[in-house]
Amino acid sequence: LRHLTTLENLPRATIERLLDRAMSMRDACAHGTRKLDLLTGRTVLNLFFEPSTRTRTSFELAARRLGADVINFDIGFSSTSKGEELYDTLHTLEAMHLDAIVVRHKVSGTPEELVRHAMSGVSVINAGDGNRAHPTQGLLDVLTIRQHRPNFEDLSVVICGDVKHSRVARSDVHALKALGARDIRLCGPAALMPDEDELPSCQRFTNFDEAIKGVDAVIMLRLQKERMIATDLPDEQAYFEHFGLDNRRLALAGKGALVMHPGPINRGIEIASEVADGPQSKILEQVGNGVFVRMAVLGEMLAR
Ligand code: CP
Repeated sequence: LRHLTTLENLPRATIERLLDRAMSMRDACAHGTRKLDLLTGRTVLNLFFEPSTRTRTSFELAARRLGADVINFDIGFSSTSKGEELYDTLHTLEAMHLDAIVVRHKVSGTPEELVRHAMSGVSVINAGDGNRAHPTQGLLDVLTIRQHRPNFEDLSVVICGDVKHSRVARSDVHALKALGARDIRLCGPAALMPDEDELPSCQRFTNFDEAIKGVDAVIMLRLQKERMIATDLPDEQAYFEHFGLDNRRLALAGKGALVMHPGPINRGIEIASEVADGPQSKILEQVGNGVFVRMAVLGEMLAR
């Protein structure tokens, strides 16, 4: 794997290899190894044009645990604020001999643009572009599911919320399909559902009580207000009534269904605290798996 810009069309074998590798990283860390030297002498740049807590921190931690040097590029204090073009920034940073750029950007397709314009052979990893893809989130989500429900041929999953603006939903669907998930359901207000041809072969619902019936995993999404125009914003109380996950609704899912959310969560808007903090919640487990998945991806791409 040279770059990771999307999970779309990534072969099942590659996804499974990365998940297995993430498990090996987890086992190494569980046995007390705090630092591996797989990437000694390598340099990873975090280039985040949008805010992040989980992805940026876990990429940094993952790279450091593998022995790499990490640069966290501070956009606010960079020459981007003086009008420098993205490609001039790229070439300037490449001249410092980087091995990988982890990029997040509001414009869909930016990671591929960086791959096209890179001059040094640097690896590009997508940490989220627009509403298009968030491949390491997709990987950590299926890793979390696999730990509890290893047989994907029997798996039924609902992804509920602002699916239209969600790069997580797209990468989750690509990963779930590649692994052979039996039943993938999308649910949300009609105005927040993507076009059919964008995410084909998924069941679609606008009634959450129907969509959640019997599923093995519920992936909740936040309203991506930053990608909506003000007139599209639903009333938050009405939204919670129709699309929020509380204990009553969770009881309609399969027994012990996994509750997941990529974060950040908005309590009382898409998820009640009784569920987010409840016994079926895997939300913090997802965060922990994010480090192992990012170790796996960096190791696969950069280890000599
Ligand atoms: N899930 C996710 O991408 O979270 P952050 O925006 O905090 O990185």
